Amino acid sequence: MSPPRTAFYGPADHDLAPVAADAIQVSPMVADGEDLIALDDQSLDAIAIHAPAGVVERRYVLAHALRALKVEGRLTAFGLKDRGGLRLRKELEAFGCVVGESSKKHNRICVALRPETPVGLEDAIAAGAPRRATDDLWTQPGIFSWDRLDPGTDLLLKTLPPLVGAGADFGCGIGWLSRNALTSQKVTKLTLIDLDRRAIDAACRNIDDPRADFVWGDVRQIASTLGALDFVVTNPPFHETGGEDRSLGQAFIRTAAASLRKGGDLWIVANRHLPYEAILAEHFAKVRLAGETNGYKVYEARK
Ligand SMILES: C[S@@+](CC[C@H](N)C(=O)[O-])C[C@H]1O[C@@H](n2cnc3c(N)ncnc32)[C@H](O)[C@@H]1O
Repeated sequence: MSPPRTAFYGPADHDLAPVAADAIQVSPMVADGEDLIALDDQSLDAIAIHAPAGVVERRYVLAHALRALKVEGRLTAFGLKDRGGLRLRKELEAFGCVVGESSKKHNRICVALRPETPVGLEDAIAAGAPRRATDDLWTQPGIFSWDRLDPGTDLLLKTLPPLVGAGADFGCGIGWLSRNALTSQKVTKLTLIDLDRRAIDAACRNIDDPRADFVWGDVRQIASTLGALDFVVTNPPFHETGGEDRSLGQAFIRTAAASLRKGGDLWIVANRHLPYEAILAEHFAKVRLAGETNGYKVYEARK
């Protein structure tokens, strides 16, 4: 008999859902994990899911998890009450599960055994699958601003001059900024980096250009391998697992400074309230406010 195969999706919380030491990570937000979507039907004995907050994304993940579980395999899903946790039980019941529910640390925790014949999995999987949306670009529920152009990104797109040389797009999403950068024939190379595998897959489909390289991973670890860049473009993340995390944006700025050659440019957009001025001034020779509208600011920071 083969050993039990167990998985977890997203950051583990052993208080809420214990995870076996040899469980495989299957979230697209954790680089080098396996892909939940690619797991064979009925190949898992158990899975713990840190449920995504978005409804369509969450139902897609739950449906794939039930598909990948063996009959009577154990599914544990948890989420903060105000980030989808309150809806988990009903969503699992709608798939035909009998659900046990408890509460801890503001989370709802639901446990269910995979029924012989779950219902509605195909519909939930189709609803959350990759598709074309704004401007006919490939995207998927769960990716940052998946169904509309983010206003901050829009401002940066309107502000960017034609770029020159080798550059990178830190946290590229589905590739809006890179598509724009590559319209300049003077761009020789562009590395698109994102922690979300779904974003990298979408960007790959959206950008067919031999100058583009696509990297699934953490900017903070990958950027040091890029060499001295001429430019970096970024709309940096400021939410990690739900809460606001300013330090992530600040880490993107430090990483950009370390990746640029002297005289290279960082083009960055941020919500007006985010405190990036001090760290920009600390790491760059010259910082210029290049655009501002509707609560967003674009800076050009020259190293
Ligand atoms: C504000 S979004 C911008 C996306 C895209 N550039 C746009 O403008 O539509 C930030 C992106 O950074 C990615 N991200 C978050 N943390 C990251 C990290 N540590 N390394 C690389 N990418 C990260 C997110 O997945 C998200 O796609």
